[in-house]
Amino acid sequence: MKKVYLDYAATTPCDTEVIKAMEPYFFEKFGNASSIHSYGQEAKKAVEDSRQMLASFLGAEPSEIVFTSGGTESNNFAIKGVASALEKKGNHIITTAIEHHAVIEPCKFLEKRGFNVTYVPVDKYGLVSPEDIKKAITDKTILICVMHANNEIGTIQPVAEIGKIAKEKGIYFHTDAVQTVGHIPVDVNELNVNLLSLSAHKFYGPKGVGALYIRKGTRIETFLHGGDQEKGRRASTHNTSGIAGLGKAIELCRDKMEQEAKYQMALRDKLIKEIPNKISEVYLNGHPSQRLPNNVNFSIKYIEGESILLNLDMLGIAASTGSACTSSSLEPSHVLLAIGLSHEIAHGSLRITLGRWTQEDDINYLLENLPKIVEKLRAMSPLYDKK
Ligand SMILES: Cc1ncc(COP(=O)(O)O)c(C=O)c1O
Repeated sequence: MKKVYLDYAATTPCDTEVIKAMEPYFFEKFGNASSIHSYGQEAKKAVEDSRQMLASFLGAEPSEIVFTSGGTESNNFAIKGVASALEKKGNHIITTAIEHHAVIEPCKFLEKRGFNVTYVPVDKYGLVSPEDIKKAITDKTILICVMHANNEIGTIQPVAEIGKIAKEKGIYFHTDAVQTVGHIPVDVNELNVNLLSLSAHKFYGPKGVGALYIRKGTRIETFLHGGDQEKGRRASTHNTSGIAGLGKAIELCRDKMEQEAKYQMALRDKLIKEIPNKISEVYLNGHPSQRLPNNVNFSIKYIEGESILLNLDMLGIAASTGSACTSSSLEPSHVLLAIGLSHEIAHGSLRITLGRWTQEDDINYLLENLPKIVEKLRAMSPLYDKK
């Protein structure tokens, strides 16, 4: 059966060049990067080369990069680390209603410990207004946290503008750039951020490794206490192979990103144009132009996203839905509700995300089969008027 992977926002395959770059650090160069001897030194070189590569990609200094276990840890580190370092200064955090759970949950955790969090709403495209962020600032605000691009609907936020406001007010600014690094340009100075999270498995690197950019001088509490790795900011023996893989992955993105974005955008726009031509009552979620080059998200009326996914899977097509079925109760996505969709419409959403190995043929296969699936499901739906 034909297999078509259209869920690159969930995770990406690890590029074979990345796997090759990681391999030596499992057996041949297995040393602990903190050891003094030659084994340690060759491992340390891999870690420092990767740090240098990532820093130069982000327009940062190598000393401003802390390697972590991924996006979730980086977000937790940034939010809890700043809250803990600045709790005497203030207890107010500003974020948005459409952040990833890896931002929302640390914020909720802090709320239980006496912090106040403002969740700024977004418009129907999922855009947050810098003016609304500005209005939410109080004399107790210590951190503003706005994602660079949304993982469900792909909307790219005006992060540079928000960063400028934060800078003027002397408030730390963090962005979750897990969906943008490796896909669109990300420069920590252009974005005016103090902190930025990223994760290798979203840009063709391995899972379980990421980084937090921490601007020099930013006050932040150590996240993992233990050894003095990462200048005492994050203890634990370095994940040498993972870090080497992250460095190689970012090097490949540096060279390929511009071309890949153009290519994916053309396929994305083909889907955005063709799906409404082939299926009635479908609505594009997210911003029409200010969106990730690889993201398509549609609400398809009268049917459940999960049913579409199962039917697509039977044809070898892997996609995803906006609604997270985390438990037996199917809660619609907080992002889709935040852009104003009703529960019913939010349930019928389909996210299609493209990547390095997506072919035009894959898109045609989807365009050929999706309308048939929708027709079949609608025919069974009591909500659909079959006349
Ligand atoms: C926007 C965003 N933030 C954070 C994460 C979590 O990253 P990780 O899987 O590396 O922990 C994800 C992953 O889905 C994401 O899309």
